[in-house]
Amino acid sequence: MSHAEDHEGTRRDFLYYATAGAGAVTAGAAIWPLVNQMNPSADVLALSSKRVDISGVAPGTQLTVMFLGKPVFIRRRTPEEIAAARETPLEDLPDQGAENANIAADATAADENRSLDEAGEWLVMQGVCTHLGCVPLGDAGDFDGWFCPCHGSHYDTSGRIRRGPAPRNLPVPVAVFVDESTIQLG
Ligand code: FES
Repeated sequence: MSHAEDHEGTRRDFLYYATAGAGAVTAGAAIWPLVNQMNPSADVLALSSKRVDISGVAPGTQLTVMFLGKPVFIRRRTPEEIAAARETPLEDLPDQGAENANIAADATAADENRSLDEAGEWLVMQGVCTHLGCVPLGDAGDFDGWFCPCHGSHYDTSGRIRRGPAPRNLPVPVAVFVDESTIQLG
């Protein structure tokens, strides 16, 4: 065996690793600008959250604001609406999940897990029917909540689907009180 042959395997391995290493460096260099571009700049961050003044919303009415291209309902519920939502047995709900981006994914659809405040006065939801995406009407339907006229889905005063083809409760987006008259979405 010649000296060259003796080291052939080692040299080949070295060449392989060197090439692979160069490849990795090249790939790394290619990926970085992409990652860097994906870091949201301040103006993009500003677009991904929105502050809403709720001081003018009377009990029993709602604001609809556009956020990230979708309508969001911000409803100030009456004591009757809250009671109706909280007295509904969970077994009556077709979708048992809270569908609330602010809490654990496996939380139940109890009204306490959907309202923004503990007392349940404020309900914030995406105003997009979970069937095929129409915008449901407020103060409507068999459960005095929202009604989607496209194919007849009835949501209750907690925005939970109760009747019709929609499979899920209206989703609660990321939202938080900034102060007593301001809600931040996103
Ligand atoms: S889109 Fe709402 S019921 Fe079909």
